[in-house]
Amino acid sequence: MTKTFPKDFIWGAAAAAHQVEGHNSNSDCWLEENVPGSPYVDKSGDSVDQYHRYREDIALMAELGLGSYRLSVEWARIEPSEGVFSDAELAHYSDVVQCCLDHGLEPLITLHHFSSPQWLLGLGGWHGERTPALFARYTERVMAMLAGRAKRVITLNECNIGVLLRSIFEQIGMVPPIGIDVRAWRAPEWREAAAKAVGTDAASYCNFQMAGDERGMATIEAAHIAARDVIRRVAPGVQVGLALALSHVQYVPEGEQQAAKAWHSNFRRWLPTMAGDDFLGLHNYTRFIYNASGPFTPPGAEMTQAGYEHTPDSLAAVVRAVAAECKLPIYVTENGLAGDDDTRRIAFVERALAGLHACVQDGIDVRGYWYWSILDNFEWVFGFGIHFGLVAVDRSTQKRTPKPSAYYYGAIARNNTLPAGAQAGRLTGDYIDMSPQLQYIPPVAEPGTVFTNVRIFDGSGSAPFAGEVRVDGQRISAVARNGAQVSHDNAKVIDGRGGLLMPGLTEAHAHLTWPTSVEKFVPGMSLPPDELALTAARNARILLDHGFTSAYSAGALGKRIEPALKDQIDSGGMPGPRLVASSVEREPPSDSALLDPGKVDEHGVGPDNVRAFVKGCKDIGAKAVKFLISGESALKPGASLELLYTEEELMAAGEAARENDLWLTGHAHAAEAVKLGVKAGFRVLYHCTYADEEALDLLESVKDQIFIAPSIGIIQATLDAAPPPHFDMTHMKQDAALVLETQKKLVPELRRRGLRLLPGGDYGFPFNPNGRNARDLELWVQHFGYTPAEALHAATALGGEIMGRGDELGQVKPGFLADLLLVDGDPTVNVAVLQNKHHLKAIMKDGRFHKAPVGV
Ligand code: BGC
Repeated sequence: MTKTFPKDFIWGAAAAAHQVEGHNSNSDCWLEENVPGSPYVDKSGDSVDQYHRYREDIALMAELGLGSYRLSVEWARIEPSEGVFSDAELAHYSDVVQCCLDHGLEPLITLHHFSSPQWLLGLGGWHGERTPALFARYTERVMAMLAGRAKRVITLNECNIGVLLRSIFEQIGMVPPIGIDVRAWRAPEWREAAAKAVGTDAASYCNFQMAGDERGMATIEAAHIAARDVIRRVAPGVQVGLALALSHVQYVPEGEQQAAKAWHSNFRRWLPTMAGDDFLGLHNYTRFIYNASGPFTPPGAEMTQAGYEHTPDSLAAVVRAVAAECKLPIYVTENGLAGDDDTRRIAFVERALAGLHACVQDGIDVRGYWYWSILDNFEWVFGFGIHFGLVAVDRSTQKRTPKPSAYYYGAIARNNTLPAGAQAGRLTGDYIDMSPQLQYIPPVAEPGTVFTNVRIFDGSGSAPFAGEVRVDGQRISAVARNGAQVSHDNAKVIDGRGGLLMPGLTEAHAHLTWPTSVEKFVPGMSLPPDELALTAARNARILLDHGFTSAYSAGALGKRIEPALKDQIDSGGMPGPRLVASSVEREPPSDSALLDPGKVDEHGVGPDNVRAFVKGCKDIGAKAVKFLISGESALKPGASLELLYTEEELMAAGEAARENDLWLTGHAHAAEAVKLGVKAGFRVLYHCTYADEEALDLLESVKDQIFIAPSIGIIQATLDAAPPPHFDMTHMKQDAALVLETQKKLVPELRRRGLRLLPGGDYGFPFNPNGRNARDLELWVQHFGYTPAEALHAATALGGEIMGRGDELGQVKPGFLADLLLVDGDPTVNVAVLQNKHHLKAIMKDGRFHKAPVGV
């Protein structure tokens, strides 16, 4: 039986401006391709130069027999800076449109196909409050340019791309270039760099593909509706729709809710937005099958070059699923196959179209089909290596060569009929299709927490401001200032009674196994192993009780205690700060006891022994590896100026740390110790007391990689200590006085040179107990010329950085982890209030209260 389509059925092919034109240099995509750490494997560069060769391409489409070209106009060209419209670019697109018409092709215009102007990203991109209005203003200009020459307009291509990307990336096991979880969105260097280039920060950078969260989707919905309103007003006869990327959804028993959730977020949730539209642009490339834990690929599936299952029959299946729930006419504005075997493309098109024909026969209102893509082109992050085109392009000459599939598809278009023998097929496997009966039941959202009536010190060092903070799950979801409110819906509201809400503190020089604490005096430093482990756990809780939600370890008295403790804390087994765990401190073998705590018999000399130690730390799960680069005069007169390692040994430590992805931490008083530490790539150096000019210059040269903790707490405690008569501290006190005087000059100088300095003071000795850690902040104000706010910035925002999580820890900002303190009093005025734990009305770590506020 011949398979002929309805008389007015439209046959076309599609492309998008950024993918084919070349030099779209005002766009976010171009920027993202070119920043350091870009996730794009190629740069679009000249692409396939359609900007200059559109006449040739349009003529070719007409010659092949097509009736329509779906093209996008580029916002970044038309409005290169905010509010400035380019007449030349509008004239260019006017010529392109006219060229289509002159060749008998209907131009199907897409107003936005993924790429946005860079300036829009600076205004919040697809999270921006003004974005819908700005898109509407741009739409009005484009409609004026079209001047009645386009019958149909797609406002936004694949409004659900942000949602869809998550499932694709999960399924093909790829690291998401455009982000799944907040960390991946923010962490990669490229996003930081792109954000900086448009004058914003990574947390606020949101391109179209990232807008898969509620706020992004709400922005896209509003932009579509605003543009549609404009079109209705200025070009009443033009049909308007949006496009959705719709993979066909199937499931196996137990996968119902996963499937329903995918169908809901990709399709059903857009139905109200489309309610006033004239058509739906439907895109299909594959199917997704869900089980209880998510999408999976069926065993033995044929995969396309683009990394997902080859399923020509998914088009008809999804058209049927859509038609069961949406009465709008359907235009299939994208469908195609990525691959270099063009015979597979021909077979794909034939099967897909036979299926589509059956849909039409069954009365489904499908009115057109656009193959993706007319040309091999720039496939976004995947670059030029993925080939969807009907026409190949040799990019060295820009010569176009139609593939057999182009002629094959052109003949179908010309005849409005499929070749004899074209047969629809069935999707493989025994999977259940999505149906209107299967509805998504959203889980009841866990209530959030709102802190109201608080002043907020956000960690940046700037003055506190009155406002509100909302926490959902582990993270801060909103911060309001100047009388504005965050949403109070589904939240427990805490009245902070004017207290200060601030990020949790970080101890940069933590010794959880140093036994003494504010709760329990332990004479000396040694405990039997089991008591030591329990003491470390207790000290972890004590630090958290005192507002320290993070701790960077400066070494332990047992090899595996800290990794084990960290594991217990992270898995909810016991209270404690986030911990960068360490093993024992390494000191080389010698006859004298240098720093007893670190003395371990098997520490041999020479680079190989050092390497083995570092590797051993990796094996037991430590992250920070502590070396005593210099000795310690407090314990042995003059030792602070002695080097305990050779350069060769320390360089070996550096190499081994890099190989094993570990961080080196060094006890370094002597100038030479500091220099060697820097050369070997140490990430943290403590003390640095006797750094000379050369050492200071070296430190400055690595200021963005290194952290310094002067560790003044122990020094002050030594000076203050009143030991029993049998314990002679005379010499220790002399040394401490010298260190204090030296550091009073050193710290301001290091700060002047832009180094990142953090409080943290060797707490845990009998005369300097764990739990007293916040005293360092007061000492910084007293001795180093810091204001309280500056000291707090060092203990919070810089704390997040030393923990390796500066992009999500240590500040009160949306998206950051909710490690928060509610303080009765104002530490930005008197930082000493933090030393009394009773001033901490609430302590929250990871969104959960360690100490819940009482009566608020
Ligand atoms: C997009 C195109 C893309 C195509 C193939 C769609 O998601 O609209 O720009 O090239 O799929 O991956």
